[in-house]
Amino acid sequence: MTEQIIYLNGEFIPLSEARVSVFDRGFLFGDAVYEVIPAYGGHLFRLEEHLTRLDDSLRGIRMQNPLSRQKWRTLLERLSECCPDEDQSLYLQVTRGVGDKRDHGIPKTIQPTVFAMANPMNRPGPEVYAEGISVITLDDIRWQLCNIKATTLLANVLARSQASDEGAAEAILVRDGKALEGAASNLFIVNSGLIITPPKSPLLLPGITRDLILELADDAGIPWCEADIHATELANADEIWITSSTKEILPVTILNRHPVGDGKPGPRWDHMMTLYRAYIQLVRG
Ligand SMILES: Cc1ncc(COP(=O)(O)O)c(C=O)c1O
Repeated sequence: MTEQIIYLNGEFIPLSEARVSVFDRGFLFGDAVYEVIPAYGGHLFRLEEHLTRLDDSLRGIRMQNPLSRQKWRTLLERLSECCPDEDQSLYLQVTRGVGDKRDHGIPKTIQPTVFAMANPMNRPGPEVYAEGISVITLDDIRWQLCNIKATTLLANVLARSQASDEGAAEAILVRDGKALEGAASNLFIVNSGLIITPPKSPLLLPGITRDLILELADDAGIPWCEADIHATELANADEIWITSSTKEILPVTILNRHPVGDGKPGPRWDHMMTLYRAYIQLVRG
């Protein structure tokens, strides 16, 4: 097998040759942001939207984007060409860079570390879509800038780990009685045919998949609204979905060990999934 090629600070190199200093602030402080971008049949999916969110994340941590949009596109396309899989997930990370000592204060001059790689997409198998997934709710113990796609993900990691211990695939995070999003996904419910998702705010990540679903719902004339989802509404929803770039739209059929609706993926999910797949087919060309 040929070795994976990754991008690091201007170079395309074999993974085994990649080195980052232990003084990198991404390593020491989680002082870094990232993006995960799908590619279908060699086409980067919603790249402009992902790069706009990257700009927002960088602004949120007081950093400038080290690369132009064109440079990002060129490097991601080149990485994608190195990966033999039809469907891929591209990961990019920008850290503040390497300081000369461990110090919280941001150095005046520092060069960002830029890392990117392409991996096979690894989407859930057909049985997961057929049966749906089980989730649990947990207190949201994250900070108050969850709109920034920061690599500082310890709270999300612990939430996912607890979900896994309890036989669930995802944790839905609840703050002040409101269900906001999953540990690595956005949240939708369906009530009497109406699709509901929490409004964008600093308490959740503005998901690219989330926005696309709302666009597709608009185009198809499916009613939707942005509204707070109280934990009790979540428990009584007809359907629950979680969404992300790599999971696409997953139906939740068990919430806190109780069936959601009739315990099967619902008709709105089925319709939306058909629209989503058709959209991907268009992109694939
Ligand atoms: C906390 C969180 N919310 C939402 C999402 C979904 O975002 P996207 O649809 O852009 O992948 C993710 C993706 O990883 C996430 O980590």
